Amino acid sequence: MIPEEVVEQVSQAADIVAIIGEHVRLKKQGSVYRGPCPFHQGTNNNFSVMPKGGYTCFVCGEKGSVFTFVQKRLGLSFVEAVKYVGEKSGVEVREEVRHREGPDPREPLWELNATVAGWFREMLWESELGAPSREYLATRHVSRETADRFGMGFAPRELGLMRAYLNGLGFSDERLLDIGLLVKREEQEEPRPRFRDRLIFPILDAQAHTVGFGGRLLGPGEPKYLNSPESDVFSKGKLLYNLSNARNAIRRDSRVILVEGYFDVVRLVDAGLESVVAPMGTALAEGQADLIAKYSNNAFLLYDSDGPGQKASFRAADILLTRGMTVRVVTLPEGDDPDTFVAKFGREAMEKLLTEAMDVFDRKVQLLERRGWFADLQRKRRALDALLPTIRATTDEITKDLYVNRVAEAAGIARDVLLRELASAPAQRGRVRRASTAPVSRPERAAEPDEIPRDSAPRPAGPYRSDDPGSSSELAIVRVMLVHPGLAEGIIESVGRLDELHGAHTDADAVVDADVGVMRDPVYRALYDAIVVHGAEASPDVLAESLDPVAIEVMEMIRGEPGAVMDGRRTVDDALRRLQERALRERLDELERTTPLADESEKDALLSEKDRLRRELAALGARGWKSVRKQ
Ligand code: CTP
Ligand code: MN
Repeated sequence: MIPEEVVEQVSQAADIVAIIGEHVRLKKQGSVYRGPCPFHQGTNNNFSVMPKGGYTCFVCGEKGSVFTFVQKRLGLSFVEAVKYVGEKSGVEVREEVRHREGPDPREPLWELNATVAGWFREMLWESELGAPSREYLATRHVSRETADRFGMGFAPRELGLMRAYLNGLGFSDERLLDIGLLVKREEQEEPRPRFRDRLIFPILDAQAHTVGFGGRLLGPGEPKYLNSPESDVFSKGKLLYNLSNARNAIRRDSRVILVEGYFDVVRLVDAGLESVVAPMGTALAEGQADLIAKYSNNAFLLYDSDGPGQKASFRAADILLTRGMTVRVVTLPEGDDPDTFVAKFGREAMEKLLTEAMDVFDRKVQLLERRGWFADLQRKRRALDALLPTIRATTDEITKDLYVNRVAEAAGIARDVLLRELASAPAQRGRVRRASTAPVSRPERAAEPDEIPRDSAPRPAGPYRSDDPGSSSELAIVRVMLVHPGLAEGIIESVGRLDELHGAHTDADAVVDADVGVMRDPVYRALYDAIVVHGAEASPDVLAESLDPVAIEVMEMIRGEPGAVMDGRRTVDDALRRLQERALRERLDELERTTPLADESEKDALLSEKDRLRRELAALGARGWKSVRKQ
């Protein structure tokens, strides 16, 4: 906060003609000064500056005070603009800090981080130990200048070096453990550095305090990237990599480019695109969306071109749309990420891709159209289910209206049918998979050692429990597979058949989540998949390799139950029957919801299909899964 009187004082003292004159060639005309408008890049002298204060463009209508001008042209906040003008006008501007009791308690931690960042930097550039990391940067074509811009460093493999250095400066082990620079697996163990043999990216908050680190392994291994653990100063969901550097550019350019990773940011900034930020290995969080929306309402999503990248960008888009933002997706050529693309084709090519970026909704509709998702009634239903959440997320009314028209046209559905759908409750199909907050943008990523499940809400203590009522049958299936491996093969076959009933795997697509099958609880699904891949006879260690700790915990719990499953066959038959029932009910429900989309000629087929499913459902109660399987 700057006191009102000071703002007034600066405004009085400011020579607006001189200040704007640094950016626009002004000529005196009568009592005002005129020049070409910098806001619409005009060439004629339609931009007018009044020495008593204020400017106006007669063509584009831009107008405001000396502060607005500086804010818009230099991308500054109001407070920064007042300081800037104050400095030029000889008025000292001090922010008034109200009701603050002492310094920010996080200051010592910021200081520690900044100190160790300096040490990492020294290791990278001055130390013998840093040679491989210097080579690594060279192979990735990152210059010293660029690396320094990001304060990059190197964490050596050596166990005691960093600790000795920091202890020597008076930082206690306790503090180093708190902030995650050191880790201890067991109480009595000597603390070890968390980051070893990694290239270090310091992570700053928007005010440029050093709050944590990301580290990339120089060689192969897992996890490829490792971040500081969550702490009082480091909360991944509320930070964006490079925001402190990019924020002025973001305001100035009225655009923010969102990429997936550290190296994408580095490469783009290096190429001269400054308004770039990235989350740190997680899907875009609400807090990050709030942060972005503070600086611009115009987002470009520049994610990898692969399936997971596309899915992650669509998920990010839905969150940004709830902030009323305009969201465009940039399509990179197959196999490229922003880093490789700019390295190969340069800045101009990237700027061209940005101008060609499509509104996210148009892009979705385009993908669906191309793959024939509007061609028949069944797929139309699913396409619509995939699009409605995005329309619902859109808070900007004009955009929302455009989106409705766009689908109505593409799918050949009446506007009022769509509006009715929008107003009704969202579809429940595959509830668990979609509702799971899916914290990691790439599901195949190895989880980080001590923050699992990554970034998701804290899990209540005790054994894992799915929040989906249908999942007890899924658990039963996994249990039998683990306890009676001999039955696994038959189970896999049956589950496959039920998946077909769901219509899962028919046509996976980044837009339509077609992967809603029988095993849908993420943890049970992971266990099931591990058994499918490694075989039911595989040892727990082998299975554990591809599992996260929560799934491992569930596996150990199952194996630890004495006589867990008495009659494996019966348990499986029971579970499969219940899952088949669920599949049939969901299918029926889907057909029910398809009815409003059908025209007269399609209605008969729909009715008889519904009839058939109802009869099957009724018979299921009487016959059980076994006999169904035989027909
Ligand atoms: N990431 C992570 N954990 C991993 C892999 C990736 O947190 N095990 C995060 C990092 O923030 C990384 C981003 O996800 O920057 C993008 O990951 P990916 O596309 O796999 O890596 P790249 O950025 O291509 O990294 P590199 O070019 O170094 O291989
Ligand atoms: Mn990369």
